[in-house]
Amino acid sequence: MALRHLMSPLDFTVGETERLLDLAGRIEKDPGKFSHTCDGKIIATLFYEPSTRTRLSFEAAMMNLGGKTLGFHSADSSSAAKGESVADTIRIVSCYADICAMRHPKEGAPLVASLHSRIPVINAGDGGHQHPTQTLTDMLTIRSLKGRLGNLRIGLCGDLKFGRTVHSLIESLSRYEGISFVLISPEELRVPSYVRESMLEKNIPFTEVVRLDESTMAGLDILYMTRVQRERFFNEADYVRMKDFYILDREKLELAPKDMFVLHPLPRVNEISVDVDDDPRAAYFRQVQYGVYARMALILTLLEIEVA
Ligand code: NCD
Repeated sequence: MALRHLMSPLDFTVGETERLLDLAGRIEKDPGKFSHTCDGKIIATLFYEPSTRTRLSFEAAMMNLGGKTLGFHSADSSSAAKGESVADTIRIVSCYADICAMRHPKEGAPLVASLHSRIPVINAGDGGHQHPTQTLTDMLTIRSLKGRLGNLRIGLCGDLKFGRTVHSLIESLSRYEGISFVLISPEELRVPSYVRESMLEKNIPFTEVVRLDESTMAGLDILYMTRVQRERFFNEADYVRMKDFYILDREKLELAPKDMFVLHPLPRVNEISVDVDDDPRAAYFRQVQYGVYARMALILTLLEIEVA
């Protein structure tokens, strides 16, 4: 079998994605059954950019499967600081590990790594481009909360330009029937044109609005909040101007549908007030737990380990 990597959520067909989510569901129900499925396996987490959830959840996922982890958590603490290329680094890591998750500030860096790798490479976030494992997490969460992935009206709010989780989620959900999007952002932070064109091409209904108010939230099944991606701004003044553009607080959530769930890939800055955390519709901490199951299922899938 050819080596498989995960660069974009579209690398998996809808059928493969469903199978992966089903596997994640089986893991959630009976984690003990999977606790030795990766005995003797190693995941390398190569993180050239900061991360809490993604890196730790990959490591937790591998440990829950009985495997081990190694890696680095910043470019400064790796040979990148000495000028080593991603291609060389992955050639080296292929000798140490069975699978690798890479996060990099440059778009396409994990793809370059995959071309030189002898082990599966997972894109754990490349610049402002894609974040496929967050999308698997989001889809598993949505499916668990709503019982389906089709026939949903999804609001995405915040930095839709640089927010890679948004790009991957739109592309993935666009493959399901009956999906529509409400894209809520400041003018300057609207989705990139390649994402807009892909929705147009597939005839996906979407609207682009600036305000997060009662009429915007009406009929939403999911409101996906995101932070303004400070590290991708060219100038601090623009960031400061936009950072508190949206704040979802209890008062605002009062205006939202009673069956609308709030998701956020985290970290949150100010865009969701802490007084929302206790609302039963706030699902962002549950989402974190689903991230571990999704990554466990992904590791098993890419390592082609079948569990009867
Ligand atoms: C996201 C990311 O890194 O793109 N975080 C994450 O992986 N959960 C979102 C963000 O950083 O805002």
